[in-house]
Amino acid sequence: MNFQLTEEQIAVQMAARDFARTELLPGVIERDEHQKFPAEQMKKLGELGFMGMMVDPKYGGSGMDSVSYVLAMEEISKIDASASVCMSVNNSLVCWGLETYCNEEQKQEFLVPLASGQKIGAFLLSEPEAGSDATSQRTTAEDMGDYYLVNGTKNWITNGNSASTYIVIAQTYPDKKHKGINALIIDKNSPGVTVGAKENKLGIRGSDTHSIMFQDVKVPKTNRIGEDGFGFTFAMKVLTGGRIGIAAQALGIASGAYELALKYSKERKAFGTEISNHQAIAFKLADMATEIEAARLLCLKAAWEKDQHKDYTLSASMAKLFASDIAQRVTNEAIQVHGGYGYVKEFHVERLMRDAKITQIYEGTNEVQRIVISRTILKG
Ligand code: CAA
Repeated sequence: MNFQLTEEQIAVQMAARDFARTELLPGVIERDEHQKFPAEQMKKLGELGFMGMMVDPKYGGSGMDSVSYVLAMEEISKIDASASVCMSVNNSLVCWGLETYCNEEQKQEFLVPLASGQKIGAFLLSEPEAGSDATSQRTTAEDMGDYYLVNGTKNWITNGNSASTYIVIAQTYPDKKHKGINALIIDKNSPGVTVGAKENKLGIRGSDTHSIMFQDVKVPKTNRIGEDGFGFTFAMKVLTGGRIGIAAQALGIASGAYELALKYSKERKAFGTEISNHQAIAFKLADMATEIEAARLLCLKAAWEKDQHKDYTLSASMAKLFASDIAQRVTNEAIQVHGGYGYVKEFHVERLMRDAKITQIYEGTNEVQRIVISRTILKG
């Protein structure tokens, strides 16, 4: 088994680390405080090829592998998880889905601007009454001949306002349940689309999360992804890849907090020596480092399986479940290592703890991950 990264993967990791430190770190506290979306920074990330990392260069992407994507997501998330969730949704849920399941005309029209970072995309599945229970879609896409008429409300939509292109999951044949669902590409500026107020969140406060309302929105049939009724399978497929992105985000949040705690522990003195010399602190650091390494290996395994075209459903859910749980513990311990300083914004770790929580919730709660994992292992 070879754990060695390639030169190209290391170069991507370094480029993401450098970008995070030079472009995202300045202003991250203010953006969190004022819930400001990192618009300029996302544009630059797009120009550097981080918004369509796994997309073929002929469609405007960078043609990298999923392992590189995990490495980049970890680095960006160490500093700014609001930027990294935008990056994750655009890469995994939007670009990967479009490249894998769209026809050539759709790829030229919709994928190229998203993969090259000229536009941002959003994935609209969750509804006021359909979060984990994704088959219970209330948003309707009524078949009107050569177009669909879309009505309904989507909730907690990442990139809700910053996105120009929405992938909307909607019900066309309610009696067919999940087999009657379609995935439609809808321009945010279409008549009848309304962006609701920005959610005032605990964490990832720089990320723009909105409800989106659709009232009699006409969507040409040519904007449907795949065959009639393919929408639910499409959603499940992209969410499986998305879980690798969120697992890597959780990993990055944890390793960002750990690095801060490690550095602080070697500087701060108490009882006549650096606090890292006290076992009370050193053992915390040992646990944090071990949990992070385990999470990293799970993330990289899931990404490797995806790159090898193996079934990565189980490994993606395991990576997301574990990485998001340890992100909670590690960020909490990082605050403890910092003592009172950890509780104030200037030291970053309190933000990372707030940001960690959402990784246990979005792209399938950890209860959903346990459903996926238990069903798979019980099937044998
Ligand atoms: N890949 C392909 N197909 C899949 C699949 C997968 N990973 N998982 C399920 N399916 C298929 C099943 O095979 C089945 O198809 P058939 O009937 O043809 O056999 C169909 O989908 C229904 O599957 P289930 O019976 O397993 O469905 P279920 O109702 O029991 O739900 C679930 C399963 C795993 C709980 C699923 O509903 C789920 O993943 N829910 C969570 C949804 C989610 O992740 N929401 C997040 C919103 S997006 C977001 O957060 C983005 C953001 O802003 C950051």
